This record gives sequence, structure tokens and C-alpha cells, in this order.
Amino acid sequence: MLKFDHVSKVYKGGKKAVDDMNLEVEKGEFVCFIGPSGCGKTTTMKMINRLIEPTDGSIYINGENIFDKNAVELRREIGYVIQQIGLFPHMTIRQNIALVPKLLKWPEDKRFERAEELLKLVDMAPEYLDRYPHELSGGQQQRIGVLRALAADPPLILMDEPFGALDPITRDSLQEEFKKLQRSLGKTIVFVTHDMDEAIELADRIVIMRDGKLVQVGSPEEILREPANEFVEEFIGKDRLVQARPNIQTVEQIMNPNPATITENKTLSEAIQLMKEKRVDSLLVVDNERKLSGFIDIEIIDRFRKKAVQVGEVLEKDMYTVEEGTLLRDTIHRILRRGTKYVPVVDKQQMLLGIVTRANLADIVYDTIWGEEENLAASEQ
Ligand SMILES: Nc1ncnc2c1ncn2[C@@H]1O[C@H](COP(=O)(O)OP(=O)(O)OP(=O)(O)O)[C@@H](O)[C@H]1O
Ligand SMILES: [Mg+2]
Repeated sequence: MLKFDHVSKVYKGGKKAVDDMNLEVEKGEFVCFIGPSGCGKTTTMKMINRLIEPTDGSIYINGENIFDKNAVELRREIGYVIQQIGLFPHMTIRQNIALVPKLLKWPEDKRFERAEELLKLVDMAPEYLDRYPHELSGGQQQRIGVLRALAADPPLILMDEPFGALDPITRDSLQEEFKKLQRSLGKTIVFVTHDMDEAIELADRIVIMRDGKLVQVGSPEEILREPANEFVEEFIGKDRLVQARPNIQTVEQIMNPNPATITENKTLSEAIQLMKEKRVDSLLVVDNERKLSGFIDIEIIDRFRKKAVQVGEVLEKDMYTVEEGTLLRDTIHRILRRGTKYVPVVDKQQMLLGIVTRANLADIVYDTIWGEEENLAASEQ
């Protein structure tokens, strides 16, 4: 789909920003570029849509040399999300999303239909279409920035640190949403980030750059298991290298399948009783089919004890969950990053399957170290 053939860029003044780069990206692949500031990531990206011309080498999209094409037309066929979101403040959300289709001269009704359809993809209500960017939160604006890149349905999308300016929680949920979107739409994506967690979470392949050169290219698993050199190791960080080892792969394999639960129709006194019995400070709230609706904990109960009677009146619905099949590695990052004590594991219908606790994770790390010692002992016999 996308091919760099001995591409170099030397800026005026002699700075070699990209140095003899060779890389092929397959259709539907999600590639993350990562590396220290100034290593040439943005330069690489801008050469793909010809905002910057290389000094040497060629770039091909679907076998066609991009320098044989008209630069303006080329850009319209490639989605581009820039770091600063870049929505136009005087245009409504509808007009912002439909900008490229307008440039491509789609009729108005088709354009606006497209804007509505896209907004649904990110679960935003249609009334947002007539609002202006400043009336949206940062996370919502960022979603619109992504939708704008998708509007004309380009097969290739370039994203330069699109989630960089967001707080960690918003970033997590947008990443997840975006990964699902990408899987369902089958786009090829070239994504730049500073954040190794983000790269591991999203990428099919990670490209690690340093001083304009590719240091290592591989799947997140490959890079975690076999970092090419010390630079990569340092970049990944020691913590992640330890986490990369467990042979256990998905959350179901380590979760506790019998977390303490309660239903919405129970009273707060019953909840307290149950917490005492089970020696926990938090209960998951489920319905009779075990569909998860939220949680209650001691703090919530303390806050509402005088005003409310039933669990259903006070439960907290906003809760981070993981779906069955989620890689343990990702969950470890999430739990550590959010500082939560546990995460419920659910299936696609939100049915509760179990929970992963920090204690479960500690066991895993321990098992890993233990396991290695056993192997060592075995090999010495
Ligand atoms: N227009 C320019 N003229 C001269 N040098 C430039 C120009 N643009 C970038 N550079 C230099 O080229 C190198 C690569 O820059 P680039 O913007 O590609 O880095 P980056 O990897 O995107 O960094 P960051 O992570 O900070 O965004 C840097 O040393 C930078 O100073
Ligand atoms: Mg950059």
C-alpha cells in the first residue's frame, strides 16, 4: 500500500532529518512511529502527503510514485489528523467534518448525510452537528478531528500525535474507540506518537526511529521480547520488559471468576452486610442475568446513607471495564496508569465474567520471576 524506497530528507543548513529510509506498510495495517523529539517522525509523515519534498528516494502509494501525482489531489485522498486538532472555529461541526467532501465537490445533501453518519460512529448525538468547536470538550473536538480525516473515506490516514494534548483518561477511551473504528473500517494508518503505551496499545507494527534512521521495526510483541539494542530497551522501559515475559496472555486466564456482586434492588444495609461478610470495600452491581451496571463502595454508601435506600439509587455507572480476550499486557498498563484497584472483565454484552485485581497482577509478575528461576535450575541439572 505504502512504500518508502531509500528516502532521505536534508533540510537547508544540512540537517539530515530522514536518512535512507526503507519501509513497506501493508493495506489495513496500523503502523506507529515512535522515537525521541527531533528524530524525523513529522518529516516522514509530511513527505507522504507531499507537504515536504524528499531530497532523495521515492515514495509509492499502491505502486504509484506520489511525485507523478498532483500534490493537491494526493492530499485530498489521504486523511490527515494534526496534533493541534485544527478544527475551524467559525465553522459548525457539520461543516468541519464535511470539509474534504466539499473540496471534492460532493453535493451538499450527501456531504451532510456523511457528517451525520460519522458522528454516530463515535457515539455523539446529532445536535452536536450545529455546534461550534469551542462548545465541545477537548476529547469531543479530537473525535471530530478524526472524523474529518475519515470523511471522504480515504484508504490511508496519517495521524501526527493526535491524542497528545488529551488527559490520560480521555486518551485511553479515545484510543480504544479509535482502534475499534480502524478494525471495522479497514483503513491503513500511519500514526506518530511519543507514548510507548499508546504505540503498544494501537499498533500492528511499531517503527522506532532515532536520528532519522529506523532502529527497529516489528510487532509490539517482537519489540518487547527482543529489543534490537540498548536504545530500544531504554525507550521501552524496564517495567514493560518485565511485563512482556508472562506466558499468560489474556485477562480470563488470571481473573477471579467470582467477584462480590449485588443487585440494584437490595438495600444499602444489605450491601454493608455483604461487604463485611466478603471482606471487600466495593461491590459490583449486576442484574439477574449478571449484566454489569456499575459498582458501589463504602465511600458512596457513606455519602448517601441518610438519603437513599436502594443500591440502584446510588450506584456509580461510570466504570472502566475490559472485554474478555484483552491481552494481559494492555490491562496491566491500564490498571497501573489509572491507579484503580481492580477491573471487571465483561463479554460483548456487558455480562460480568470476573475481575482482575492488582493482587492478581502481582502474582503474575511473581510467577514470571519464579518461572525463570525454575528454568534456570532445570538447565543447570
Ligand atoms: N523546516 C525545517 N528546517 C530545518 N530543519 C528542520 C525543519 N523541520 C524540522 N527540522 C529538523 O529536522 C529534524 C526532524 O524534525 P521532525 O519535525 O521530523 O522531528 P519529530 O520526530 O517529528 O520531532 P517531535 O517528536 O519533536 O515532533 C529536527 O532536528 C528538526 O530540528
Ligand atoms: Mg513531530
